[in-house]
Amino acid sequence: MTVVSFCVETGTISYDNCCYPQVATRASTAARLVALSVRLEQTSQQGKTKFMTMRTSLPTTTRNKRRILPLLLCFVLVGCASAMATPSYNKRVALVTGANKGIGKEIVRLLSEEEDDEWIILLGSRDPGRGEAAVKELLAANNSNQKIICCPLDLTDPKSIQTAQELVEKVGEGTLDVLINNAAICFNDPTLYGKMEYTPFEQQADITIKTNFFGTVQVTQAMLPFLQKSNYPARIINIASSAGRLAQLQKSPSMTKTFTSPNLQFSQLESIMNDFVQSVQEGTHASKGFPNTCYGMSKCGLIAWTRLLARDYPELSISSVDPGYCATDQNNHQGVIPAERGAVTPVLLATLPSEKARNCSGKHFFQEQEIVW
Ligand SMILES: NC(=O)c1ccc[n+]([C@@H]2O[C@H](COP(=O)([O-])OP(=O)(O)OC[C@H]3O[C@@H](n4cnc5c(N)ncnc54)[C@H](OP(=O)(O)O)[C@@H]3O)[C@@H](O)[C@H]2O)c1
Repeated sequence: MTVVSFCVETGTISYDNCCYPQVATRASTAARLVALSVRLEQTSQQGKTKFMTMRTSLPTTTRNKRRILPLLLCFVLVGCASAMATPSYNKRVALVTGANKGIGKEIVRLLSEEEDDEWIILLGSRDPGRGEAAVKELLAANNSNQKIICCPLDLTDPKSIQTAQELVEKVGEGTLDVLINNAAICFNDPTLYGKMEYTPFEQQADITIKTNFFGTVQVTQAMLPFLQKSNYPARIINIASSAGRLAQLQKSPSMTKTFTSPNLQFSQLESIMNDFVQSVQEGTHASKGFPNTCYGMSKCGLIAWTRLLARDYPELSISSVDPGYCATDQNNHQGVIPAERGAVTPVLLATLPSEKARNCSGKHFFQEQEIVW
């Protein structure tokens, strides 16, 4: 018999003989992961998806008969957990940047399925038309009463950030509970996929760092006064990447030391990121020990900044997430897991109970677990 158990205390999911030691999860996340794995298995049998995110450990011949059992058990567990929990129903406001498609859109969708609180979700989109279309699509597919509102927001345009700030202030009445910094750009190696437009490396640096690093910083700074008014505690979740790993700075021990220093200042980070852009444009970045990737450098800076921000704002819960290699436009849909899977951990961090959320601050996550940077 297949047994799915979820321990509310330890946040551990046991699924068949496999144990998933999620550091801090919720019953709804456990149900979500099991439902997703079952759905992926179904689509893979129809030949639509090549990969699964979770193994069921069931022999293929018995899978079909037993597919429904984990789901039923999970629903029972979710029911028991909610019955035991103290009832609480609060109004929460969230902003997700770059949410008109890909992982961001899935984050909005999963948040809109939340049942514990009343959510108003601002779906950030640099193109208002694409944003409105995503809102329409999500609302049409959703039976919940959660609100989804389009928030035009271009990370590289200060006027747009100001307009978004005004909208967030109005909608949230001066308070923002969750900011998920998801929007980013990535220029791909054209030899890898053969379908991407080619952009010379020296032209990638400025726009990549301006969008992924400085744009994210500026949006966050604009939203911080509202986040500080939340008693949730407010969460900032920065979507990073495995490309942002610290190891890429290994040719420069001094840079590694600065990035990991507990006393790192934003001015130091700012100056390194600007130096990277200039060095790439001058063709000297490699000799200075910078990595050969603009996207990687932008995400490495983002993770360092997440730690710095968590240190400076201990009353907030601020973390970074590597969503995994998801099939989205960013990689010409070469990713091996669906965007929905990449959205699970950001949503978990956005919805964890206060104490657990506080424990996650300053940490970097991948698939519900803290990982080494
Ligand atoms: N997919 C993966 O395998 C993977 C792996 C690791 C990390 N990530 C990270 O996950 C996040 C989401 O990526 P994704 O795969 O979902 O990519 P995606 O499908 O390309 O979506 C990126 C989103 O960011 C928006 N965006 C780009 N530049 C912007 C700007 N200047 N202002 C506002 N929005 C902007 C895009 O808007 P438009 O539609 O207007 O272009 C889009 O909504 C990114 O931070 C990415 O780096 C992805």
